[in-house]
Amino acid sequence: MKNLLVTGGAGFIGTNFVRYVYKNHSKVQITLLDKLTYAGNQTNLVDLLGERVQLISGDICDGPLVEKLVSQTDAVIHFAAESHNDNSLIDPWPFIRTNIVGTYTLIQAASKYHKRFHHVSTDEVYGDLPLSGSNEKFTPTSPYQPSSPYSASKASSDMLVRAWIRSFGLQATISNCSNNYGPYQHIEKFIPRQITNILSGRRPKLYGSGSNIRDWIHVNDHSAAIWDILTKGKIGETYLIGANGEMSNKAVLEMILKLMKQPQNAYDIVKDRPGHDLRYAIDASKIRDELGWQPLYTDFQSGLQKTINWYVDHQDWWQMDKNKIEMTYARNNQ
Ligand code: NAD
Ligand code: DAU
Repeated sequence: MKNLLVTGGAGFIGTNFVRYVYKNHSKVQITLLDKLTYAGNQTNLVDLLGERVQLISGDICDGPLVEKLVSQTDAVIHFAAESHNDNSLIDPWPFIRTNIVGTYTLIQAASKYHKRFHHVSTDEVYGDLPLSGSNEKFTPTSPYQPSSPYSASKASSDMLVRAWIRSFGLQATISNCSNNYGPYQHIEKFIPRQITNILSGRRPKLYGSGSNIRDWIHVNDHSAAIWDILTKGKIGETYLIGANGEMSNKAVLEMILKLMKQPQNAYDIVKDRPGHDLRYAIDASKIRDELGWQPLYTDFQSGLQKTINWYVDHQDWWQMDKNKIEMTYARNNQ
């Protein structure tokens, strides 16, 4: 694969994926298609832009633009999405439009031009697992039970991709990954919100009891997994990506407080998220056994420390957005 079209390449995971491919696969050329919403940042990749990396500012719902770009590429890696659950509970429409109509627009073009397509999705399509009394994990055959407008829109997009594989022979794979952490993550999300709250003199905010569990994976491990699926994955298959990183939100927050030398109780408990999923946990044995992928960032505390350092060193990257984001949360008592 010489030419990749990466949608949502100016967002958190897209940026890290493009950096991963740029560094590890020197012959690959990358075109990014990104609407540069509040979540996309064109400065993320400014040092890479040139002969090998090109950024197109545009919308995945723009049929003619999508057709033109898809026709010129070897493969599409589809990250672009509205990605934040809390926003989807305030205004679901952008999620329906981008995540469902946008994915439809892309797979129509990929089918028409017979292009390889990889759909980047989430473990949230499977709903949640009980907090206690079960060691169950999500597998590729777990039933779809999305809880929020965000996860329902991602579930819908997965279903569209599956239907296009079966009915139109779309050459696609799907991956469902757990919670990512690392550099370039938008400060609306849990880990960067707490780090930047501390750095800007605010108190961290924990939803409800903090007992909800997320299965954390470093974003570079997710990028490597997507590359493996793209190059070795079987068409039509779904791969679950996770790194055995289950932790309660309270435990993650306490680790951030410790690493940033704050008292362990220096945070506020705020209003819980409606419909808040209890626990996510991924069984990644399929991608490990069939594609030989394995996570390299297995020490969460050291990955978290590096992530904290990144936000300390890149205050220009996030400071401009901080007041606005916190005002939105405050309006919602969060
Ligand atoms: P993000 O919000 O940081 O980035 C999304 C990017 O998509 C932004 O650059 C934004 O400008 C762009 N975009 C939004 N609407 C667009 C449109 N209509 N046309 C073109 N570009 C548009 O999201 P992220 O956290 O990097 O997530 C990327 C993908 O990975 C999403 O599909 C998400 O569902 C999936 N995912 C995320 C996680 C996670 O923990 N963050 C885990 C599993 C899967
Ligand atoms: O599981 C994969 C999903 O992970 C992705 O599909 C989503 O795009 C991504 O945003 C993420 O969803 P979550 O809702 O799990 O992530 P978020 O960072 O919003 O919240 C993580 C947990 O922390 C969740 O249980 C809610 C809680 N939380 C969040 C915020 C912003 C807090 O306790 N306080 C907060 O301030």
